[in-house]
Amino acid sequence: MTKRILITGGAGFIGSALIKHLQEHDHSIFVIDNLSFGNKAFVAIPDDRFFEEDIRDRNRMFELIEQIQPDWVIHLAAIHFIPYCNQHPFESSNINVQGTINVLDACKQTKSVNKVFFASTAAVYPIYNEAVTEQHELNPLDIYGLSKLVGEKLCSEFHLDSGISTVICRFFNAFGPNETNPHLIPEIQDQINAGKRTINLGNLEPKRDFIHTYDMARAVIALMETADIRYDVFNLGRGIEYSVTDIVEAFERQLEEKITIEQEASRIRKTDRMHLLADVSKLKKTTGWEPQWSIDEGIKTLIHQPQT
Ligand SMILES: NC(=O)c1ccc[n+]([C@@H]2O[C@H](COP(=O)([O-])OP(=O)(O)OC[C@H]3O[C@@H](n4cnc5c(N)ncnc54)[C@H](O)[C@@H]3O)[C@@H](O)[C@H]2O)c1
Repeated sequence: MTKRILITGGAGFIGSALIKHLQEHDHSIFVIDNLSFGNKAFVAIPDDRFFEEDIRDRNRMFELIEQIQPDWVIHLAAIHFIPYCNQHPFESSNINVQGTINVLDACKQTKSVNKVFFASTAAVYPIYNEAVTEQHELNPLDIYGLSKLVGEKLCSEFHLDSGISTVICRFFNAFGPNETNPHLIPEIQDQINAGKRTINLGNLEPKRDFIHTYDMARAVIALMETADIRYDVFNLGRGIEYSVTDIVEAFERQLEEKITIEQEASRIRKTDRMHLLADVSKLKKTTGWEPQWSIDEGIKTLIHQPQT
């Protein structure tokens, strides 16, 4: 059924993939994004539905959400690049916590809103050497993870107060087109696309659960369309972990060329998680969602694609 859907942070990496998929249906899409990291060119949204605004502006959030009258609000706007959060703890926690309070309070006041989605993160988990389920104990290691854990608590209070259906989704490591932050895969992509076949990287052993943004988009939509969720928390990953070396090998397979890795001292993190792997059985069981993009297929589409 056609919905009015507001996406905060819709001009970002995951937001743009989500909008592309939502636009395959006859929904009315609205975006609030201050374009600090996102790019308006990533999304085909008419100007009168794109609001270049800051979620820290509480009054404006109340005015806008009342004006838009959304059925669903998908709250993605945040600062999430962990090194940036560590360097800018006030700015990032202010956006991730105060901004979230503003969006949730405005949703509570606007009668049309009947479902809210909050983008949380795998960074709410401490280090585990096995696949993590939603039941694993939470204990974020950094300010980013902590700010998102606060966001989860705010969502829980919001649901108890308002009765509005609320979905919390802990995203693992996204990859795909329109990347906005200098994560591992765009870093390799940039060096490869610049013609380098000897590339400089940091730690090679840590493993991450990389999931394509198009699979994430389909999962977010599946969760929003699942009518009987009142309040619930889901992991969203591929359920497979890859080391840095595995990712470079996937580039090699797609290029059919040898890539040599040189470790660069300035890129090596002194402490790093060795594993971050999602157990996604709850998401699959609840929605029937299955990931479709393999790492090789995803990487194939990134080769020769310019970073923005
Ligand atoms: N990319 C990942 O691997 C990943 C992993 C876990 C969680 N997440 C979460 O998913 C969501 C989307 O992440 P992404 O990768 O698309 O990041 P992104 O930076 O591309 O998208 C975030 C968007 O929010 C906007 N934004 C930032 N501050 C804002 C503010 N004050 N007001 C309005 N808009 C603002 C940015 O301009 C950007 O377009 C975030 O909440 C992030 O924490 C992402």
